[in-house]
Amino acid sequence: MSFKKITDSVLYCGINDFDRVIFDELIPLDNGTTYNSYIVKGNDKIAVIDTMYPKFTEQYLKSFDENGINRVDYIIANHGEQDHSGSIPALLNKYPMAKVVTNGNVAGNIKEMLLVPEDRIQVISNNEELDLGGKTLKFILAPGVHWPDTMFTLLKEENVIFTCDFLGSHHTFDEVFAVPSDKLTRGIKKYYAEIMMPFRMLSKKYTAQIREMNVDVICPSHGPMYKDEGLEYILSLYEDWTADEGKNLVLLPYVSMYGSVEEMADYVEKGLKAKGIEVFKYDVIRGNLGDLAVALVDATTIVMGVSMVLAGPHPAAVNVAYLAGVLKPKAKFASIIGSYGWGGKLFDKIVECIAPIKPEIVEPVQVKGKPKKDDFAKLDVLVNSIYEKHKSLGLV
Ligand code: FEO
Repeated sequence: MSFKKITDSVLYCGINDFDRVIFDELIPLDNGTTYNSYIVKGNDKIAVIDTMYPKFTEQYLKSFDENGINRVDYIIANHGEQDHSGSIPALLNKYPMAKVVTNGNVAGNIKEMLLVPEDRIQVISNNEELDLGGKTLKFILAPGVHWPDTMFTLLKEENVIFTCDFLGSHHTFDEVFAVPSDKLTRGIKKYYAEIMMPFRMLSKKYTAQIREMNVDVICPSHGPMYKDEGLEYILSLYEDWTADEGKNLVLLPYVSMYGSVEEMADYVEKGLKAKGIEVFKYDVIRGNLGDLAVALVDATTIVMGVSMVLAGPHPAAVNVAYLAGVLKPKAKFASIIGSYGWGGKLFDKIVECIAPIKPEIVEPVQVKGKPKKDDFAKLDVLVNSIYEKHKSLGLV
C-alpha cells in the first residue's frame, strides 16, 4: 500500500475498513469506515499523527516498511480512543526512539487502556508547539468533540488541521480528498449523529473556530480529507446541523403489535403531510438505525408510536427513545401515540428516556385496542398542535 500525498510534507497512511458493517455495535454502516493516520515530515523530525485500529496494526506497520519510513520521532495522539491510539504500543516498539506527544487527558487514557509507559510520553499544553525542523505542529485542545481528551493539531506552515474524530465520516475512499456527493453526505451525517450530535453546542463552537482559522486542508481521522470546495462543503454541513433551528420535519418511530399503532401513525403522518409538514415514519423493528439517526439530526418534533407490552411500553420503543435521549438531537417538541390491551402505563418510561432532549410534550394520545372516532379526533388535535408549533417557528 502506497502512502498518499496530502501536501508537500504530509502523507496519508490510513486504512479503509470496507468490511465493517456496524460502528460502536450501534450504527449500521453503508460504506464501511476508515482509520486515518498521517505522517508529517520536517527537515529534522518525523511525526505520525494518530495511529490505527488494533485489528489492522500488522498491516499498518508493514506499510511503514513498504514506504521506506525507517524512523519516527513523535507519535501525536489527538485522542485516546483505540480506533486511533490502538497501534501506539506497536509503533513505539518498532521505533524505540519515538515518543508519544499528547495532552494530559490522552496520556492518562493511553497509560490505562494501552499500558503505554510514562517515560515514552511527552505531555503538552494548549497552544504549545513542536518543531520538526522547518515544520511546526501546534496543539489545540478541543475537549468535548467528542471525548474530554480530544485535541486538534495544526501544521502551521502548510495550514493543515488534523481534527481527529471531528468533521469525520464513515466513508471508505480511493481519492483522499472529498468529492461531495449524496452518499458522502449521508456518511458524514450518520457519523455526526452518533459521535458529535450529543455535543452539538461544542461542535458549533469548533466549526466556527475552524472556519475562522481559514485553513487550507482539513484532515479528520475517519473518511476523506477536505480542501478547495470541500472545505465549504464540510463546514456548511456542520453549520446547518449544529444550528439551533430544526427542519419542518416530524420523526415518527413506531412499533405496532396488532396494527393499531400503525393505523394511528399512518393517520398522523397523513394529517401532518396535508398541513405541509414532512414526516419520516420509522418502523422500529425493521428499520435501519442509521436512517433514524440521520432523521434525528433535523427533526423539530418526535412522535413516538408505542404498543403496550406487559403493562409498559414495548422494549423496542424504549430502546429508540433512550437512543434519542442519549444522542440529544435539537428536537423542540415530542409526543406519544399508543395502544394497549388490558392496561398499564404507556408513556412514563418514554418521557423519562427522552428527558435529556428537554422537549415540550404535546398532549399524547392513548387508545384501548383499535383507534375509534373519538381517538381520531384526539389525533386531529395532536396534528393541529404540532402544526401550530411548527408555524410558530416559521417552519410552515
Ligand atoms: Fe474515531 Fe473517538 O474515535
